[in-house]
Amino acid sequence: MADHDAIVLGAGAAGMMCAAIAGQRGRRVLVIDHANAVGKKILISGGGRCNFTNIHTAADRYLSGNPHFAKSALGRYTAQDFIALVDRYGIAWHEKTLGQLFCDGSARQIVAMLEEECATGGVTFALGQGVTGIDHGDGLYRVRVGGTEHRAPSIVLATGGPSIPKMGATGFAYDVARQFGLSVVQPRPALVPFTLGPEEALFQSLSGVSTDVEVRWNKTRFREAALFTHRGLSGPAMLQISSYWQHRTAINVNFLPDRPVEWLLDEKRDRPRTSLRRVLAQALTERLADALLERIAVQGEMGSLTDKLLRQVGARLNDWAFMPSGTEGYAKAEVTVGGIATAGLSSRTMEANKVPGLYAIGEAVDVTGWLGGYTFQWAWASGVAAGQAV
Ligand code: FDA
Repeated sequence: MADHDAIVLGAGAAGMMCAAIAGQRGRRVLVIDHANAVGKKILISGGGRCNFTNIHTAADRYLSGNPHFAKSALGRYTAQDFIALVDRYGIAWHEKTLGQLFCDGSARQIVAMLEEECATGGVTFALGQGVTGIDHGDGLYRVRVGGTEHRAPSIVLATGGPSIPKMGATGFAYDVARQFGLSVVQPRPALVPFTLGPEEALFQSLSGVSTDVEVRWNKTRFREAALFTHRGLSGPAMLQISSYWQHRTAINVNFLPDRPVEWLLDEKRDRPRTSLRRVLAQALTERLADALLERIAVQGEMGSLTDKLLRQVGARLNDWAFMPSGTEGYAKAEVTVGGIATAGLSSRTMEANKVPGLYAIGEAVDVTGWLGGYTFQWAWASGVAAGQAV
């Protein structure tokens, strides 16, 4: 006999949302998490202020094997819906940049809100215990936790992806999905800093320098800040492009996205006695100009440099190729690209097409948002979709 209507595995963003919605529909919901507290990633998100959604949420800001998959859930539970919930709890928020909404106070408020929503739905929690096994038979899922067996006709995989293992993140959802015959799109770390090899050691001297760039990988571009680190490249622009990047390919950085390639010719005409170094230092900061010029190996007064050479320098600064040696991996990745393949799931309910009663939501699924509140919006929306169906 079932002792619950649904068992949600994972008390993170998606799992809590799903449990609250299902509970408030009158379902008896149990949430299991091996962590001893709920919503740990929410607490550290957005530098402790949780970038809880993005007002520009749209399916084209997500990476997925099926770019249309996220549309249904995102369309039925929008950023405005989540804002309305946050407002109902009197949580003050502000837009930081690019549609990113943050709490004025603390991410703790979002976790408290979700806990309250779960309490309203009579959701019960089993925390601090790992799942030791899951079976299915006679229309029931049996989830073993320590010596106890919980039974329900539905289970929801909401254990996220393996990014930041030291916080308890695992690939558990993938293992369960495979156990029930679902496929998993090869996961890899995303929203993660790049490392540069020894041949790029020159840029270590720039550690701490941040600059507005346009970064490109194939046809994907982001205009945001880049940050040089002692190991490589970080900052929002680099984190964004890392989700698309493939090993052994270059990323191209435009260090002067607002200037045309010919701008140095104008400078030459206007101030022929000024050195190229000084012109670039004014446009880029001294440290960055020095490091780039060392690579370009051109110097002298503007008037002494040929137009052709200045055009080449301009072109190089507008399309500087970096060949990352890798990324900082799951230890530093904010999210995971890939995951449970959407082909096996209903985009309306998040239920597995061929495995009745098995649902997957949030980051565990092969839907990965851009930096900026998009991954949480997917967690809320997919959580609501499943919460309305279980
Ligand atoms: P989530 O990871 O939240 O929850 C999974 C839960 O499952 C956890 O509670 C975990 O303990 C549990 N679990 C895992 N394995 C288990 C197992 N084997 N057994 C039982 N339980 C298990 N996104 C955003 O939109 N805005 C932001 O500001 C940020 N900031 C940010 C900062 C940092 C440092 C990180 C690492 C990530 C972000 N993110 C973010 C990403 C965001 O945190 C992430 O996408 C969501 O938390 C995903 O929600 P889920 O509910 O899918 O997984």
